[in-house]
Amino acid sequence: MCGIVGYVGKRKVVPVLIEGLRRLEYRGYDSAGVAYLQDGELHRHRCEGKLINLEEIMEEVSADSRIGLGHTRWATHGAPSQRNAHPHCDCTGKLVVVHNGIIENYHSLREELQEKGHTFISETDTEVMAHLIEEHLENDLVEAVRMAITLVDGSFALGVMWSEQPDQLVAVRNQSPLVLGVLEDSGTFLASDIPALLPFTNSVVFLDDQEMAVLKKGSWQVMQAESGELVEKTPQVIDWNVGMAEKAGYRHFMLKEIFEQPQAVLNTFRGRFDPETGEVLLPEINLSKKELAQIKRISLVACGTSWHAAMVAKYWLEKWARIPVDVDIASEFRYRSLILNPNVLVVPISQSGETADTLAGMRLAKSMQAKIITICNVVGSTMTREADGTIYTHAGPEIGVASTKAFTAQMVALFLLTLFMAQAKKTISGEESRSLLSVLLELPVLIEKNLLRIQDEMMPISEEFSRSRDFLYLGRGINYPIALEGALKLKEISYIHAEGYASGELKHGPIALIDRDMPVLALAPRDSVYPKVLSNVEEVKARHGRMIVIGTEGDDELQRISDYVITLPEIHEDLNPILYTIPLQILAYQIANIRGCDVDQPRNLAKSVTVE
Ligand code: AGP
Repeated sequence: MCGIVGYVGKRKVVPVLIEGLRRLEYRGYDSAGVAYLQDGELHRHRCEGKLINLEEIMEEVSADSRIGLGHTRWATHGAPSQRNAHPHCDCTGKLVVVHNGIIENYHSLREELQEKGHTFISETDTEVMAHLIEEHLENDLVEAVRMAITLVDGSFALGVMWSEQPDQLVAVRNQSPLVLGVLEDSGTFLASDIPALLPFTNSVVFLDDQEMAVLKKGSWQVMQAESGELVEKTPQVIDWNVGMAEKAGYRHFMLKEIFEQPQAVLNTFRGRFDPETGEVLLPEINLSKKELAQIKRISLVACGTSWHAAMVAKYWLEKWARIPVDVDIASEFRYRSLILNPNVLVVPISQSGETADTLAGMRLAKSMQAKIITICNVVGSTMTREADGTIYTHAGPEIGVASTKAFTAQMVALFLLTLFMAQAKKTISGEESRSLLSVLLELPVLIEKNLLRIQDEMMPISEEFSRSRDFLYLGRGINYPIALEGALKLKEISYIHAEGYASGELKHGPIALIDRDMPVLALAPRDSVYPKVLSNVEEVKARHGRMIVIGTEGDDELQRISDYVITLPEIHEDLNPILYTIPLQILAYQIANIRGCDVDQPRNLAKSVTVE
């Protein structure tokens, strides 16, 4: 979604803003703009499309300014166009605003402001903010912003600059992330996400909801938006470096992130269990043994790929910890009649920790006294700060919009949570724990060993099916969510229509779609439901569907029933979902590439979905 960058300090501001915005490109956007102050005047440049267009404009401009704001916009109110691109101005042309989120009551505010004589140029909800602040502006920008936001419903992260107070930026956050980057005496940065700050500083201050910040060259202050009372904040040092958010020679972030999975898996389980005893150690859960013993139900809440990780975890938790598990899509969870209480453990799962629906579901669960443990990849993100505890996935920054390494790392974290709960409830023996963990220990090497081979073997399959119109993915039991994930990956980056099905469901409808043009990918490891999956594959074959099977090394039966086979080493069936995800990511990546799609920034999608 939209990206915000701001800077005030010793450096020239335009290169800082452009560099910061480039680091936020992955979030998805369709126009970009910057504004800066120079010799007491406000300058603004905006354009439709990619950042490169803005860079070309800025090459023609010689700006020596040291204070400014930048923005990448993902259109919500009004089409992607130069007119609707941020920053937006007030009537005087002296004040600018950049905004992420949605002003829900913008329509009525706009009418009121128009009646008072304000002239609107764009169709955006954001422009309302510029005029609303102008309406309250006498001689103090901070005061005017404070008064304006009391009139606004909705979510916002705002950056505001006024040429009459040319040494400061004002920022405010409500339900949309904002973070400061601080460099002692040389400058202060503002961003909607950490990667924008990494080229400049690792020292960050996260704003909480309803907090405002005033940024100056060598200082910063945070205050409560409502009362104006100062809030004490200590900068946190983030252990991500700028190289982690770069392509490192790979053609795309997505490919790099697929190949980083051995490390992401290893980093997520490393130090979290004792291989001798099999005991899983998760002190970050912050729940006492007594509290753990009282948990009667687990509720997993997430969106998209993270929801698929939750679906896999249900199989694990119910099997090993013998606890009933609900899995909810967050946007549904928050609108049903929930039955939650202190004996329910709610686990919001999110790569970004900022997804609006998941966050809202988590807050609702918290208000109903449920315990909250989040699984998250981004240190300091909103969910991690509001949950009772966080199990971090240590996948490193994930830039490609299509989630890959964060997904496999989420499954690892959930697997550890499963064993942790099972051990607390004494539903698993030491021997079983040790044996499962020994498989987990081997996974990074197994993935590493097979990545290049899968890539090679998948290429002819990708070439053959890159022009297909539809795709079906089949999986059964614990691999059903992986079929859903494979289909999601393909549709989001290649724009091919794809559906994932529990393979037993095939005969209840989707089998009508099978003909000679329909590629069907089946996950058929030699596990406890293998014979059932084979029967489903036979049903497809009998109707001349084009069959791709991912199965177990040495399984000769697969050649007979399929057009293409990719095999993987045999491991404990519970951990197959982690391994079987890899070929599906590679298939989607290759097909998207062959079709010439923008793999890292697919159309209409955003990395971090911070609106409902
Ligand atoms: C994954 O490929 C998707 N882009 C998307 O479904 C994503 O998983 C979803 O938006 C949830 O994001 P989160 O994990 O950051 O909450």
